[in-house]
Amino acid sequence: MICVKNLSHSIGKTSVLQDISLEIPKGKVTALVGPNGAGKSTLLSLIGRLMPLQTGRISIDGSDIAQTPTRELARRMAILSQTNSLGSRLRVRELVGFGRWPHHQGRPTHEDEQLVMQALDALDLTALGNRFLEELSGGQRQRAFIAMALAQGADWLLLDEPLAALDMAFARRIMAQLVALREAGRSIVVVVHDINHAAAWADHVIALKEGRIAAEGPPETVCTSQVLGDIFDMELRVTQIEGKPLVLHHL
Ligand SMILES: Nc1ncnc2c1ncn2[C@@H]1O[C@H](COP(=O)(O)OP(=O)(O)OP(=O)(O)O)[C@@H](O)[C@H]1O
Ligand SMILES: [Mg+2]
Repeated sequence: MICVKNLSHSIGKTSVLQDISLEIPKGKVTALVGPNGAGKSTLLSLIGRLMPLQTGRISIDGSDIAQTPTRELARRMAILSQTNSLGSRLRVRELVGFGRWPHHQGRPTHEDEQLVMQALDALDLTALGNRFLEELSGGQRQRAFIAMALAQGADWLLLDEPLAALDMAFARRIMAQLVALREAGRSIVVVVHDINHAAAWADHVIALKEGRIAAEGPPETVCTSQVLGDIFDMELRVTQIEGKPLVLHHL
């Protein structure tokens, strides 16, 4: 379980997260949703220790992240940021190989290479393995970064908008892969804007609004017209398909 206690965060004079306490269940797919600027990326970055904590505590499976050595943390969780800016003169295979770095520290074993190949295959990138990142489309590059996070093989996978730039077929495939990883015992936290991906695939949904938790629970309780209407300040209808909420937000 990831446990966040009394977390507040400011950037300059702006308060971005306000006294957040929450628990993210282990062995589940948790979707983090909310309007632009709600604080989702900030929260994910703090959990992934990409930024120092200002106030509050975060623990992952019982270990306080502030006390956990970096190498140990990298084995426990992999994080994909919303903005990835690694050198574009890097080949796809090399980028994905970086995911294994915490395990081999520069001396990859046969197993490391196998895991890189599996990650490339999972994201349909085998044929593009030798391409430079700058020679890929936006969505292909996004898939390469997802493959790197997958290759890390961590217990927890934190993904900030992995579906951004993906076509609908790849978006569905990624969500289905996250569910398969859950079945294999991993825990997933994923920021998504397409609420229907959260509704259909997530076990647990956490909605942020203006730096606070606005709602949390299973998709059936969070993805209602009332709750989502309040969070996004819009009118929408919600229907059901195969027992899951289907949000009609585009009509
Ligand atoms: N470097 C920064 N300097 C100043 N303000 C920032 C900075 N980074 C983020 N913020 C502010 O913090 C708030 C939360 O940003 P955050 O990126 O966490 O939102 P988000 O929920 O991920 O939004 P989005 O859906 O647009 O990705 C926003 O109001 C944003 O303007
Ligand atoms: Mg964000």
